[in-house]
Formats: sequence, C-alpha cells, structure tokens
Amino acid sequence: MNATRGTLFVEDAEVVSHETHAGDQHVLRLLSPQTAARAQPGNFIHIQCDPAILMRRPMSIMRVERRQGQIDILYKIHGLGTELLAKKRPGDVLNLVGPIGVPFKLSGYRPRPLLIGGGVGIPPMIFLSEHMKSPGARVKPLILMGSEVPFPFRPRPSQFLVPGIPAEVIAAMPLMEDWGFPSRLASMKSLPGCFEGNITLVREYQLPCQVSLEEYMACAVGGCAGCNVRINTANGPAMKRVCVDGPVFDAAAVP
Ligand SMILES: Cc1cc2nc3c(=O)[nH]c(=O)nc-3n(C[C@H](O)[C@H](O)[C@H](O)COP(=O)(O)OP(=O)(O)OC[C@H]3O[C@@H](n4cnc5c(N)ncnc54)[C@H](O)[C@@H]3O)c2cc1C
Ligand code: FES
Repeated sequence: MNATRGTLFVEDAEVVSHETHAGDQHVLRLLSPQTAARAQPGNFIHIQCDPAILMRRPMSIMRVERRQGQIDILYKIHGLGTELLAKKRPGDVLNLVGPIGVPFKLSGYRPRPLLIGGGVGIPPMIFLSEHMKSPGARVKPLILMGSEVPFPFRPRPSQFLVPGIPAEVIAAMPLMEDWGFPSRLASMKSLPGCFEGNITLVREYQLPCQVSLEEYMACAVGGCAGCNVRINTANGPAMKRVCVDGPVFDAAAVP
C-alpha cells in the first residue's frame, strides 16, 4: 500500500452551499480546486470546523466536480466540531488538508461489484459509484445503504429488479437510479420500502473485499501514530496508520 503524503494540499476552501437534512445530517459543498483535481474514491479531507477548535476532523469525500473545483461531504452532527461546522454559511472559508489516504483499488473489478455503506459510510460509496459510471469502467455495481435516521435524500422505488432481494424491498437512491445502477436501502427503523435489518457482509463468503476503516485522528498525515490499528501483513501482524496506510484496507488483512 502506498501512502499519499506527497500529494496533499492545504487549502482555504470557500463554502459554496450547505444543505440540512433530517437526522442532523448536512451536505457541505466546498470550493477546493486542488483537492478536487486529485481526489480518488476512498480519500478523505481533514477539515478545520471552526477557528475555535484546534484539531481538524476527518470527513470522506462524497462527490467531486473537477471542472468547478468543488467537493461535497456528507456529515452527521456528532460533537462540538460538527456542531460548529453546521453553522457555516456560503462564503465562509474553512481550511482543509486533502485529499488524504489510500483510495479503493479501481482495477480488476468483477463485473458486478457490491458496494455497501451504512450511515457516515455512505459518502465513499457514492464517490465510488460515480467513478464506476465513467465510460471505461464497464461494471454495474449493486449499492446497498443502511441508516438509522432518515436518508439524506428522498428514496424512490427502484426501476431495477435485483435477484434474491424481496420484491417489497424496493426503496432506492434516486441518484443511483439516474446513473443506471440498482440500489437498495436498509434500516431498523421500519422505513417504507427498506429492508429491515443490517447490510453488513459476513466473512463466510470469502469474497475479495476492500473495507474503509475509521479511527480517531489527530494529524491525519501519518506523523502521530494516533490512528494505529492492527493489520495482518505477509510478515505477520503489524500496526498500520488508518490515515495514510488506509483508510481502505483489504478486508482479509483486518483481524
Ligand atoms: C477516514 C474517516 C472518514 C470519515 N468520514 C465521515 C463522513 O463522511 N461523515 C461523517 O459524518 N463522519 C465521518 N467521519 C467521522 C467524523 O470524523 C467524526 O464524526 C467527527 O470527527 C466528530 O467530530 P466532533 O467534534 O463532532 O465529535 P467529538 O466526539 O466531539 O470529537 C471527535 C474528535 O475529538 C477528538 N477525540 C475524541 N476522543 C478521542 C480519543 N479517544 N482519542 C483521540 N482523539 C479523540 C478527535 O479530534 C476526534 O476527531 C469520518 C472519520 C474518519 C476517520
Ligand atoms: S492521525 Fe496521526 S498518524 Fe494517523
């Protein structure tokens, strides 16, 4: 795995728009041309939520508009940092470092990759799906998303049948429908058309799989070892930094 420290940028990013959704969820669009130009699915930014808070917060990149130099993040209010972030308005400027981390490996896809994201794990799956709709990709993913708060979009019945999924589980993400990709939604909150249960995969199937990990981060550039996790390598277990050795790892290497 290659660390990406050589390609990081520090940018003063202007808030372009800031949407609020049910369940304390927000979509923040930022003008950050350097990050937008280099971001790959699985990368994240480390953003200063407010000058009053010293430590930055990691957020996955959800969408990139390279021509306009803009990126979107989707976040849920969790504590003080995201609470202050939620107060930012168009025109405000936020300092960020990005794009950070090892992205998803994009070569050697199977023709039907399965993309799974729950809660704040949804944004990287949207970025990955958008990449898969590029003309050269030649894959058609199935996207499964889970949430215990209302989804930050209005679900609509899918136009695609998916073998093995019950017919009444029909709620889909409109953006994926527009891109021609089947998707399904899951929740334990009895949301209409959603599967009632979890979307997590079980190891027993032994499919080739990449996972994106989360850990508390201080520097997010590989310097503090605060985000270390145990990973199995060819030479046995080793401590790896989620920020620059990850956040994407081969699932088989994660104990
Ligand atoms: C790679 C990655 C991508 C992420 N992507 C998203 C996303 O797309 N959307 C989203 O909503 N969330 C995402 N998160 C989670 C998000 O970073 C947290 O929800 C956010 O940091 C919470 O900040 P807060 O100030 O609101 O919460 P608080 O709980 O008040 O603060 C969390 C912060 O406090 C500090 N902290 C707290 N406890 C410890 C500890 N034990 N050790 C060290 N530091 C500590 C750290 O600075 C930490 O970042 C991501 C996290 C990671 C690692
Ligand atoms: S957060 Fe400092 S090494 Fe990862």
